[in-house]
Amino acid sequence: MTAGLDRQWRRFAVKKMAMQPGSSGLDVGTGTGDLAIAVVQESVPDVHMIGVDFTTEMLNIGRTKLQKLQLQDRVELREGNGEHLDFDDNTFDGICSAFVARNLSDLPGGLREQFRVLKTGRAYGMPGDNPSALSHSRISFSCLF
Ligand SMILES: C[S@@+](CC[C@H](N)C(=O)[O-])C[C@H]1O[C@@H](n2cnc3c(N)ncnc32)[C@H](O)[C@@H]1O
Repeated sequence: MTAGLDRQWRRFAVKKMAMQPGSSGLDVGTGTGDLAIAVVQESVPDVHMIGVDFTTEMLNIGRTKLQKLQLQDRVELREGNGEHLDFDDNTFDGICSAFVARNLSDLPGGLREQFRVLKTGRAYGMPGDNPSALSHSRISFSCLF
């Protein structure tokens, strides 16, 4: 339906995150884990990702996918709310989120929460939404890089 655009967005996000060896990242609203998987597949070997989502069924499909790809040691899928992340401040080296912004009940608050757990000041949020979905936020796209 997106004519491969979603895959292109994912590749773009992975490139922007530029994860370094030994680093760890967070995928907010990971669904079945496609973006988290793309990050570990297209980054250097020693990169780990945690994907959080509040839909258990999506995570279970993702876990099966990880087993098939033998990536369960590099990607962990956890239940969680992207607007109230259960991680300490400054935990992750990179953060991504695809096609989720439109679902957040409090977009500026959700983005603040992502920045709270980000360690290095580098993140990429992949909206995948109509940009007007973010127009209520005073945080512009450019801040997400
Ligand atoms: C359109 S899907 C995108 C999934 C994935 N990011 C991808 O690119 O394939 C949106 C996902 O965001 C999740 N989601 C929406 N709001 C969320 C929130 N506040 N916390 C956690 N997950 C959320 C939904 O459960 C769903 O799996």
